[in-house]
Amino acid sequence: MAMEDSKITLSEKDIPQRWYNVVADLPFKLPPPIHPGTKKPLAKDDLRAIFPLALIEQEMSTKRWVEIPSEIRDIYRLWRPTPLRRARRLEKALKTKSRIYYKDESVSPTGSHKTNTAIAQAYYNKKEGIRRLVTETGAGQWGAALSFACNVFALGCRVYMVKVSFHQKPFRKSLMRIWGAQVIASPSELTESGRGILSRDPHCQGSLGIAISEAVEDAVRAKASKYALGSVLNHVLMHQTVIGLETKKQLGLAGERPDYLIGCVGGGSNFAGFVFPFIKDKIKNPKLKIIAVEPSACPSLTKGLYKYDFGDTAMLTPLLKMFTLGHNFIPPGIHAGGLRYHGCSPLVSALHAQKVIEARAYHQLEVFKAAVLFARAEGIIPAPETAHAIKAAIDIAKSARKPACIAFNFSGHGFLDLASYDKFFNGELKNYAYPLQEIKRALKDLPTL
Ligand SMILES: Cc1ncc(COP(=O)(O)O)c(C=O)c1O
Repeated sequence: MAMEDSKITLSEKDIPQRWYNVVADLPFKLPPPIHPGTKKPLAKDDLRAIFPLALIEQEMSTKRWVEIPSEIRDIYRLWRPTPLRRARRLEKALKTKSRIYYKDESVSPTGSHKTNTAIAQAYYNKKEGIRRLVTETGAGQWGAALSFACNVFALGCRVYMVKVSFHQKPFRKSLMRIWGAQVIASPSELTESGRGILSRDPHCQGSLGIAISEAVEDAVRAKASKYALGSVLNHVLMHQTVIGLETKKQLGLAGERPDYLIGCVGGGSNFAGFVFPFIKDKIKNPKLKIIAVEPSACPSLTKGLYKYDFGDTAMLTPLLKMFTLGHNFIPPGIHAGGLRYHGCSPLVSALHAQKVIEARAYHQLEVFKAAVLFARAEGIIPAPETAHAIKAAIDIAKSARKPACIAFNFSGHGFLDLASYDKFFNGELKNYAYPLQEIKRALKDLPTL
């Protein structure tokens, strides 16, 4: 592979055969999820109502590698391996001597990394006789990915979509419907948790925490149905490690060792999938910087507390030790809908608490400015979530004292986020001040153990 290549591609036989489970290599013990009733560590049986056994086993596994079934690899072949691209024109625009690479997960059929785990989750549910999956979605990327995966495996699918995004991103709804899913604006009248929220606040714009409550309640109540989660949990993050495993090989082919690895963080899955295969390297080489990027309007890693909290607003989920803004925190309606989550994955949180990774937060307008700069240089239009990682990569390239190798995960494209770009150009987008009062209020409701 010549150093000059702009696209570092792999062949289909290089699609990883195994997912990587970072739990096996952590230099500390991960705090377990806790049953909210007994306050004891969660047992496998506690999750049986919502997940199939194979995924529960993956969730609790400490095995370093988990075989990817050939049926899943066969579907991954539709878009994997994804290219690692060198952002030469962005480097030129920035007048930087640093090398900037991005792993392009936007080439999946649904436009983002979410398909990597959607296919796996639909497969294991189908294998255990489940007929229908229920989930939540923020911006719609996860909902679209699960709709696609359910269509592949002939499963029914219902998606509770956060109301603000339901209206901001109507075409993601269209995608879900094309793949046969039913899409409901959340909070809705269909669930007890939705009705409860609407009775207190009829104009509630929703949040991922609320949509999760509705989806879990629906899945538990309905026949032959299970719940699927697009981020946060260990098994979801593990499915995403195909991203980092491929990236490692591709950077090797380019003769590079990264100095910076960057990803945006909502629940933490694309970031984790990209960086976890490098965590052992980081532990050996403290000079490698691994940076999680979040919105200032929903700053769980940079302003939250590392405490046990519920994953949802109605307090239906197990308690997870994570950086949280409080399960009652409803983030402002930023256009990076997939980053509007009050918490963060326990694995990413623990690595942050142990200072293995770093975090930074950006405001909406500077993120859109970076997205436009990137699109004008490289051509590809990023999702607003992805643009958080781009903003950090640009800042790092501009401030690096010597030329560095900077790699970030391009988690998804923004072709269905064009209305947000229009608003940006029309001057209709605004920054939200750090919602510190709201966070303070929500943190008062953290459960006691
Ligand atoms: C394109 C894109 N990137 C990032 C995210 C954030 O999710 P996660 O932190 O799980 O990667 C989302 C979530 O919807 C997304 O759609």
